[in-house]
Amino acid sequence: MSEDRLVSAVQGEEDANFDMTLRPRRLEQFVGQEKIKSNLSVFINAAKSRGEALDHVLLKGAPGLGKTTIANIIANELDVPIRVTSGPAIERPGDLAAILTNMQEGSVLFIDEIHRLGRVVEEILYPAMEDFKIDIVIGKGPGARSIRLDLPRFTIVGATTRAGLLTGPLRDRFGIVHDFEFYSVDALRLIIRRSASLLECEIAPDAEEELGGRSRGTPRIANRLLRRTRDFMSHLSKKSIDLDVVQFALQQLEIDESGLDRIDRSILSCIVERFNGGPVGVETLAATISEDSGTVEEMYEPYLIQQGFIHRTPRGRVAGELAYKALGVPFTKSAGDLFNS
Ligand SMILES: Nc1ncnc2c1ncn2[C@@H]1O[C@H](COP(=O)(O)OP(=O)(O)OP(=O)(O)O)[C@@H](O)[C@H]1O
Ligand SMILES: [Mg+2]
Repeated sequence: MSEDRLVSAVQGEEDANFDMTLRPRRLEQFVGQEKIKSNLSVFINAAKSRGEALDHVLLKGAPGLGKTTIANIIANELDVPIRVTSGPAIERPGDLAAILTNMQEGSVLFIDEIHRLGRVVEEILYPAMEDFKIDIVIGKGPGARSIRLDLPRFTIVGATTRAGLLTGPLRDRFGIVHDFEFYSVDALRLIIRRSASLLECEIAPDAEEELGGRSRGTPRIANRLLRRTRDFMSHLSKKSIDLDVVQFALQQLEIDESGLDRIDRSILSCIVERFNGGPVGVETLAATISEDSGTVEEMYEPYLIQQGFIHRTPRGRVAGELAYKALGVPFTKSAGDLFNS
């Protein structure tokens, strides 16, 4: 169900096509995440001037915040080829060995969803990342022997939406670690403006702001809402996107002022109305929307928590005052209130 959700931060099929057009290619075109950008630019320039491979980079953050985009930008800025794979795609140690032995000196290996690497595969990665060596077992049974091969120096860029699931040894092998934050409305406005101009669609400043404010701090959602709004623009026979079009579109799409959709609101109403403000376990919340708890933690909660709609406590999730506001329910004294006061 989350795939069909308009404000899902997860990439859908249509997003993938637009991603190609809308994805910034250089660091300077990448909006926001100032700290990540300035650090990366220092490290990239240093690696280039020394003629060395960049240290391994770990990119952590919620879906749709720009991890894949930054991975590609790193390769572009280094002016080296990038090879793209993902944790679940590397099934056997041999798959990884084949990739590693074919890397070009200085190039980038992007491993998306790196928290989903298998244990055995991961262990191959340790010496590869640390010493640029790989142990390969030749033969089977008692005659089997292991030989150690030198690898070219390369850079692994790993991306994860679930940093908590990474093992310690893997995490420790990344010299550069960056956490992606949700974007400010101003940053999202700029992203929307840039995307609108790439899509050759005129948009009014107040319309940009309205869309930005309802994009859950997430560029992928901002781009998706822009596309849907553009559809409503045509539907309304308008030539450009103005505030009326945005408001009409978002009303039709059932996205409220805070960018919350029906699923968000059912999560909040579960805590507020059924459990009197909480605490509620994440499994229970997940059951109300027929999802598993991992999906709730990875996709729905981060924004709700970051904005203060929900608080995470040792005993479960508790509704913040904002949640009551969003639902139009008076803020009452409740179990959850202990946390809010
Ligand atoms: N800072 C940014 N400036 C402009 N556009 C951005 C920025 N960050 C992301 N985008 C746009 O948002 C879309 C999603 O970004 P991206 O695919 O890099 O996210 P992600 O973090 O890799 O998500 P996932 O965890 O789902 O893989 C891209 O199409 C890109 O165009
Ligand atoms: Mg990605």
